[in-house]
Amino acid sequence: MPVILAKTAGFCFGVDRAVKQVYDLLEQGKRVCTLGPIIHNTHLVADLERRGVRTVTSPAEVGEGETLVIRSHGVPASVYAQIEVAGIDWVDATCPFVAKIHQIVRERSEAGDLVLVAGDPDHPEVVGIVGHCPGEVRVFSTAGELRRLAKEGDFSDRPVSMVSQTTFNVALWKEAVAEAEALFPGLSVFSTICSATASRQQEAEALSKESGLMVVVGDRKSSNTAKLREVCEKNCPTILVETADELLQQRGLYAKIIGVTAGASTPACIIKEVLHTMSELQNDVQGEDFSFEEALE
Ligand code: F3S
Repeated sequence: MPVILAKTAGFCFGVDRAVKQVYDLLEQGKRVCTLGPIIHNTHLVADLERRGVRTVTSPAEVGEGETLVIRSHGVPASVYAQIEVAGIDWVDATCPFVAKIHQIVRERSEAGDLVLVAGDPDHPEVVGIVGHCPGEVRVFSTAGELRRLAKEGDFSDRPVSMVSQTTFNVALWKEAVAEAEALFPGLSVFSTICSATASRQQEAEALSKESGLMVVVGDRKSSNTAKLREVCEKNCPTILVETADELLQQRGLYAKIIGVTAGASTPACIIKEVLHTMSELQNDVQGEDFSFEEALE
């Protein structure tokens, strides 16, 4: 009974870079605080806390002698201004792909475009992107919302620029682009879904089509992990686990082929533990097919 691990599972470039920057600062003996949790992974954040890293919600909370790290999601322009004014020692771990979106929206917004952002309006990355637009900006997450937005005004002569959150669902983005092209004659589209996200979702989709069960490993607060689950559960039963221990709480799961993928903020050690637990459970069952239920009996 094969367990197939997606090649794209685990840390993406931007998260890996941000996490390394924090550990590097600790090695240099710095006292570090991060603006929000460095990544959406409770276990890694807990490890950093044990090493003295504090999470703050605003530059105003940074203490004397601390170095502030901006995480890969990025922050609005106003936060950079606050940091500069306060004279805080800081390190920018904004993912370069996110920083590129900041540059696009800032330039287009300064040129007078209406900026449309496909994404979750409450997600920190989207809050950051919106915060780099000096002009009018709107966030939407479905093609339906886009249609409603288009009815709010006359956009026949208005230049409109559209970007997306880097982790936006690829299929929904394609739908939104087709819709926007019909609704906004002056539209410029910037495809800003990160290729790490796109290939992770494509691989998860293909793997879930050939699997009887998908295990998605990642934090429940991670949006890209949630999107992987969405993609997979269209094709086969899918469970999301944050840790290997959670596998033991699952009931009624059975499959000839099990696919495993993981969000961009899932540390390799957790993926390893999940695979290890799966193989231990597998060794406990008789016969060719793997059943968590049997393993628990
Ligand atoms: Fe950056 Fe892409 Fe990861 S935008 S943070 S490399 S998902």
